Amino acid sequence: MARSDQGAPVSPATRPGIGPVLTPGRWALITGASSGLGSEFATQLASRGLHVALVARRAGRLEELAARLRADHKVDAHVVVEDLSRRDAAAAVHAAVKDAGIAVDVLINNAGLGTSGDVIDTDPARIDELLQVNVTALTGLSRLFAADMVAAGAGAIVNIASVAAAIPAPHMAVYSASKAFVASFSQALAVELEGTGVRVVTALPGATATEFAEAGGRIPGPASMHARAEDVVASFLTAVDQLRTPLVATHGRADAAMAALLPKLPRRPALRLIERAMRAR
Ligand SMILES: NC(=O)c1ccc[n+]([C@@H]2O[C@H](COP(=O)([O-])OP(=O)(O)OC[C@H]3O[C@@H](n4cnc5c(N)ncnc54)[C@H](OP(=O)(O)O)[C@@H]3O)[C@@H](O)[C@H]2O)c1
Repeated sequence: MARSDQGAPVSPATRPGIGPVLTPGRWALITGASSGLGSEFATQLASRGLHVALVARRAGRLEELAARLRADHKVDAHVVVEDLSRRDAAAAVHAAVKDAGIAVDVLINNAGLGTSGDVIDTDPARIDELLQVNVTALTGLSRLFAADMVAAGAGAIVNIASVAAAIPAPHMAVYSASKAFVASFSQALAVELEGTGVRVVTALPGATATEFAEAGGRIPGPASMHARAEDVVASFLTAVDQLRTPLVATHGRADAAMAALLPKLPRRPALRLIERAMRAR
């Protein structure tokens, strides 16, 4: 059995980093809470009794969701309207919740957008926006809130990457590269924070039915094959619950197989395969 600094035995439930984190009364901050996976994260966390801070640009949607969660689950819901493509967005969100007297126990770094098409055909403003939201804001928020959680001795961060992080994807090159950054950064952060009481899960969703395509991204495969957001989010929250928190979480066998196998294939033929699959759409 593990021992505390004073030499007393420590049970698994009280050992730093492996106690339950998704418990009633804690605060979760969810970016991209106005639709898709983010809205579902907020709903499932509120149903477990956590208070939620909701971040995105569409104020109306956030207010509507906040009102519903307050009514349905008797939790507090705080809205932070922020454009995460602004350079100082992470600091602004951190300051906004501090000013509201909220100590964030759980951070869901979910906001993200995609590109579709070749690099040379993509609007450079779209590339900048994507990198700011998917990479810069996620990194800044992780850093700021992880420091608070380490000081508190507990917390959880879920960083939403993608199965697209497993291999470079021609015709969505910027998006897949941004998600490879998230997956790399997030797993390294998890190990840096081991023993602090803060767990970090790198989530790799596959094709999921959300508004991602309407917002300019690409969801591969036929709509009938897309996973339901509620099932995907439930899988990722289960990963956070586990005593031995996995570094990386996927939903379903197909996504798990892709995440494990794609990086192991000989690179050039694998890239050709992905290129054909992406071009066919
Ligand atoms: N759906 C899939 O198949 C899939 C697969 C793998 C990974 N993912 C990842 O899952 C995450 C959630 O995506 P989703 O599928 O749920 O798509 P979605 O329905 O389009 O939701 C995206 C969310 O991100 C927010 N967002 C986008 N740009 C923002 C900005 N500049 N500032 C603040 N918030 C911003 C949007 O809010 P506002 O527009 O209100 O700002 C929205 O709430 C993303 O990171 C995505 O890359 C999705």
